[in-house]
Amino acid sequence: MEYTNLGYTDLRVSRLCLGGMSFGSSEWMVNGETARNIIKKAIDNGINFIDTANIYSNGESEKIIGDVLKDYRENLVISTKGGGKLSEFYQGFSRKVLSKEIEMSLKNLKTDYVDIYFMHTIFYSTDLNDLIKTLSDFIVSGKTHYIGLSNFPGSLLAEFYTISDLIYNFRPIIVQNHYNAVYREDERDVIPFCNSHGIAYSPFSPMAAGFLSGKYSRNGNNETTRTRSYPVMKSRYFKDFDFDVLDEINEIAREKDVKASQIALAYVLSKNFIPVIGVTKLEYLDDDIEALDIKLSSDDIKRIEEKYKPHNVINGTAGY
Ligand SMILES: NC(=O)c1ccc[n+]([C@@H]2O[C@H](COP(=O)([O-])OP(=O)(O)OC[C@H]3O[C@@H](n4cnc5c(N)ncnc54)[C@H](OP(=O)(O)O)[C@@H]3O)[C@@H](O)[C@H]2O)c1
Repeated sequence: MEYTNLGYTDLRVSRLCLGGMSFGSSEWMVNGETARNIIKKAIDNGINFIDTANIYSNGESEKIIGDVLKDYRENLVISTKGGGKLSEFYQGFSRKVLSKEIEMSLKNLKTDYVDIYFMHTIFYSTDLNDLIKTLSDFIVSGKTHYIGLSNFPGSLLAEFYTISDLIYNFRPIIVQNHYNAVYREDERDVIPFCNSHGIAYSPFSPMAAGFLSGKYSRNGNNETTRTRSYPVMKSRYFKDFDFDVLDEINEIAREKDVKASQIALAYVLSKNFIPVIGVTKLEYLDDDIEALDIKLSSDDIKRIEEKYKPHNVINGTAGY
């Protein structure tokens, strides 16, 4: 396993973060024993960074991770998220709701603290000063070591950073936003901001929720359990110009005698990001770990990138 420092800190994290959204109860997910085996195998292979959220299967993902955590806690970096929509009451960024949500997450995860507490999304209407004060208190009270931001547009990221740094004396350490070879809109502002402020950039859906994994094709039927029970997938990807990028990835995979899923992941890794991988089968982990050894040439990257067409910006939903 390769490791890197988390943003501007000395905290060492694996280059792959194991995503927890695939652990739970929706049709496409894995639960119970299989999920626990995936987490254990990831840890055995040196992955020390695991991400989840309170809204993933209503806390079930956190509970599954918590079951495994007790044997390894001190060697792991665990992140969870709050602020997503759990119910009419448990949603948003008020002190009352977030204070309760972080307590529920710690209970589900069976731990006293998380390493990173993410805001799952953000609204332009949110009073950032009020939110940041609450998050600052979570750091001071030891409930979380660091704050991460997810689904943040560049303007709110810059505003958050400035207020938290100048008034509350902390800075966000990581941004978890949507990025992969067929959705690269963060290259405009979020990624340059992260790079110039020492914030780790951790793309979710590095394989475009599986669109880039080799199981979908331009003329195929393309109905899978995931497209059926994760409807945003069909609206986010599957455009003609997304298939142009996929064709190039398939071709590069053929030339290198590896899998398309590995080229998709190697592409994101080539940017020095920390991708959050979705694993629904034990053997996917082997492929994902092997992808760390695939070094794409500048020509490979050019071929993948020149087929890209800008997309409408997708606002993160986090259950809303
Ligand atoms: N912050 C947010 O709003 C947000 C949003 C989305 C995700 N996330 C995080 O990011 C993580 C990953 O998201 P994601 O599941 O969309 O990521 P992804 O890695 O883009 O897609 C994972 C899917 O790709 C397929 N796949 C993965 N590895 C494969 C392999 N080696 N061979 C063939 N197919 C493979 C599987 O599809 P099948 O199961 O269909 O085979 C798997 O479910 C989540 O668990 C979560 O932690 C965060």
